Amino acid sequence: MSDSDQKIAIVTGANSGLGLETALELAGDSYKVVLACRSEANAKAAIAQINRAVTDPDVDFIPLNLIDRESIRQFAATFKERYGYLNLLINNAGVMGPPYTITANDLELQFDANHMGHFYLTSLLIERLDQDYETRIINVSSLAARRPYADIYFDNLNFIGNYDDGPKLYGMSGMVAYSQSKMANILFTMELKDRLAAAGKKIKAIVVHPGASNTQLSRNMPLYLRLMAPVLTRFMNISTQQQGAESLMYAAFRNDVEAGDFIGPTGQDERTGQPGRVPLPEKASDKALCEKLWALSEEKLGITFTIG
Ligand SMILES: NC(=O)c1ccc[n+]([C@@H]2O[C@H](COP(=O)([O-])OP(=O)(O)OC[C@H]3O[C@@H](n4cnc5c(N)ncnc54)[C@H](OP(=O)(O)O)[C@@H]3O)[C@@H](O)[C@H]2O)c1
Repeated sequence: MSDSDQKIAIVTGANSGLGLETALELAGDSYKVVLACRSEANAKAAIAQINRAVTDPDVDFIPLNLIDRESIRQFAATFKERYGYLNLLINNAGVMGPPYTITANDLELQFDANHMGHFYLTSLLIERLDQDYETRIINVSSLAARRPYADIYFDNLNFIGNYDDGPKLYGMSGMVAYSQSKMANILFTMELKDRLAAAGKKIKAIVVHPGASNTQLSRNMPLYLRLMAPVLTRFMNISTQQQGAESLMYAAFRNDVEAGDFIGPTGQDERTGQPGRVPLPEKASDKALCEKLWALSEEKLGITFTIG
C-alpha cells in the first residue's frame, strides 16, 4: 500500500447498531468499507443510509453469515479476489439471548456466531492483514464478560439441559451462554495477540466493549419490554448507538492503543462515558485457558489457524 492507497475496512454486522455507526464513521473518514452482512436487503438499506450521510462514500457489500462455514469461505474468497490488502477487520456482529438454538455446526448459536464465525473469518483473512505497516483486528466483546459466571464451559459448551437456567437480562435467558461467547472474544484476542507478536507481525489484535447502548441487540427481549425501551433507556445509564460505537472508533483510530488492550466506556460502571483503556477480566491472563479455547476452536472448525 502506498500513501496514496485507500485504507480498507471490513465491518461484520454493518447493517445495524454499532456496526452501522462504525461503517458510517469509517466511510466518513475516507475508508473503503466492506459491509459483511447476512441480509442483502438490510445491507442495501445500510448503504442507502451511508450514502445519505456521507459525501462520496466508498462502500462494498459481500454477504456473510457467521454460522454458515461455506458463507465464511465465500466471503473470504470474494474479498481476496477484489482486494489485495486489508487495514482493519472489525469483528462486530453478534446475537444475544435467542431462544435455545443448536446450529448446523452442532454449536450453541451465540458461541457459533459471536466467536467461532469470527475466529474462522480471521484465520482466512489474516494474510491480507499481514503487511509491512500496522493493521488492526478489533473484536467486540461485552460487559457480559465481566460477569462472575463468564467462562468457557468446556464440559457442556452447548448448555445442554441448562440454557434457560441462570440470571435473565430484561427477560432474556441464555445469558450465561452469551457471557461464554463474549469471554471467548477476549480470550481469542489475547491468544491472537501473543501469536502475532511471536511471529513478528505488525497486526494489532484489540478487544473492545461498547458498554450499554440502545441497538437492535435487544431484539430477543419480550415485546412489552421492547415497547417500553425508549422510556426505560432514559433512566438506565444507556448510551445511544453513536456513543456505543465510540469505543470501536477509539480502538480503530488512536495511535496509543496497544495490542491486547481492552477499550470501553470509562464512565459509571463502564456502561457509558468517554472510551479508554479498561481492565481486562482476570481470566484474560490465563494463558492455558486462552490456548485451550484456541485448540477447541481449531478442532471444531477442522482447521489449523496459521500465522505467517
Ligand atoms: N448494544 C450493546 O449495548 C452492546 C453491549 C455489549 C456488547 N455488544 C456487542 O456489540 C456487537 C454489535 O451489536 P449491536 O448492539 O450493534 O446489535 P445489533 O443492532 O443487533 O447488530 C448486530 C449485528 O450482527 C448481525 N448478525 C447477527 N448474527 C449474524 C450472523 N450469523 N451472521 C452475520 N451477521 C450476524 C446482525 O445482522 P441482522 O440484522 O441480519 O440480524 C446485525 O447486523 C455485538 O457483538 C454485541 O454482542 C453490544
